[in-house]
Amino acid sequence: MKKKTIVWICSEAAPFAKSGGLADVSGALPAALADRGHHLHVIMPFYPQIMGRYNQKLKVRYQGLGVPLGHWNEWAQILDIRISERLCFHFIEHHRFFDRPSLYDHNGVEFADNPERFIFFSRAAMQAVLAMRLKPDIIHANDWHSALACVYLRSPLYRQFDNFSHCASIVTIHNIAYQGNFEKSKMPLTGLGWQYFNYHCLEFHDRLCLLKGGVMTAHAVNTVSPTYALETLSPEYGFSLDPSLRERAMNGDYKGILNGIDSDEWNPESDKLIPSNFTRERMAGKKVCKRKLQREMSLPERSDVPLFGLVSRLAYQKGIDIFASCVEEALLKDEMQFVILGSGEPFLQTRLSYLASKHPEKIAVKIGFDNRLAHMIEAGSDIFLMPSRYEPCGLNQMYSMRYGTAPLVRATGGLDDTVSNFDYANPSASTGFKFWDLNPRSLLDTMRWAASVYRNKPQSFKAMQKNMMLQDFSWNRTAGEYEKLYDNAAGRL
Ligand code: ADP
Ligand code: GLC
Repeated sequence: MKKKTIVWICSEAAPFAKSGGLADVSGALPAALADRGHHLHVIMPFYPQIMGRYNQKLKVRYQGLGVPLGHWNEWAQILDIRISERLCFHFIEHHRFFDRPSLYDHNGVEFADNPERFIFFSRAAMQAVLAMRLKPDIIHANDWHSALACVYLRSPLYRQFDNFSHCASIVTIHNIAYQGNFEKSKMPLTGLGWQYFNYHCLEFHDRLCLLKGGVMTAHAVNTVSPTYALETLSPEYGFSLDPSLRERAMNGDYKGILNGIDSDEWNPESDKLIPSNFTRERMAGKKVCKRKLQREMSLPERSDVPLFGLVSRLAYQKGIDIFASCVEEALLKDEMQFVILGSGEPFLQTRLSYLASKHPEKIAVKIGFDNRLAHMIEAGSDIFLMPSRYEPCGLNQMYSMRYGTAPLVRATGGLDDTVSNFDYANPSASTGFKFWDLNPRSLLDTMRWAASVYRNKPQSFKAMQKNMMLQDFSWNRTAGEYEKLYDNAAGRL
């Protein structure tokens, strides 16, 4: 296969800036593709936290990058961090838009100028390609923040340049609920004429929808698991974009590719963020991790009680409200402990904090974003909860398996694709616990079931643990699927 030049555009990437799984994927998949011989240019905004931690490595690549926004020009600069010969990060520095303590919102309220910020960002990425004299084979946009780049590529604004003469575009949907759906009065900011505001492009119920523009104009569209690809074709999961996706799917232009994980970053054998390392063969360290986690979160240090972990954005998607409505009943009958880390919806933060204050011996909650604690919870818990309403892929269930922590998931999207439900007859082929119906009773029963397997069938639980730790979710498994997607997209030029 001919090696390609790929411009990957995203709003966040680990380790530089992260609010969720998009950052993990943008940190790991471009690196995996570079290892396979492609040339990767990752373009993302420059956030202040990057300056604090990486200023030694940053190099000014281009000053005075003019970015048309509406009838005027914004001015930005490009800062580089080179990771390897074939992988470079290019940060778009623009103080007014990106010099803020968080990426998208303030205390759960979206920044009012998000349309300006990300229309600017998509356009800046296209301008950066010109300024850096790149000649990409692929523009790979991710989610609504950069989807507009696919529309630009089709428009005379950029088609005229030799840089894009053999360039195809991809848009990856990491979460269809977030669409970049704004008042149509924002349309002129794009610099595209009103002719692009129509059903087959950016118009969505008389509003401007940036993700829809990408879905309709990219040479190929994908999402992050096969089951979510099917689900999003339905009205139940499609968040009203299902008709557009069905149109693309009819022509074979929409598919699901399961995410992989960074198996160096999430490795119990070498993880520097956990108190004791362990392997599938030498599990003693996991007991130490459990004890230290209990101590850090002020829970009684008991090895016999099943410890449930949860690390999540506190959003409607994640089913945290379902958990909050059944956890107290779970504590009535069974001995269980819960460690929860998350931030997001204020009412969920309050509800969880209240539960912790009512049951301090059983429920420990930390509100905030804490990567070290996330690793400690993966390593120290026995069971990891993901009761999602929907889940495009989900990464924590795969991280959990690596650490011998059994994921307990709702069977939806990527969670359904990655977890094999516990089977008494064949624990060494199982990798977690699943439930289907989205209600507190089903979750409660499944938590009780998991706790009883942990307590009463320790040999079976251990056999499942060994099997979980054998699973290979590295990007090596699925990066090749992206190469095929790129070839398909290029074939449509
Ligand atoms: P999503 O992208 O929908 O949030 P994923 O499961 O794909 O869900 O990825 C979430 C990522 O964000 C994981 O790496 C998880 O550990 C991390 N994460 C989520 N919330 C927190 C938090 N409060 N502190 C630290 N890491 C978090
Ligand atoms: C989104 C989804 C999550 C997925 C992640 C990375 O944030 O909610 O399920 O794992 O993107 O693709």
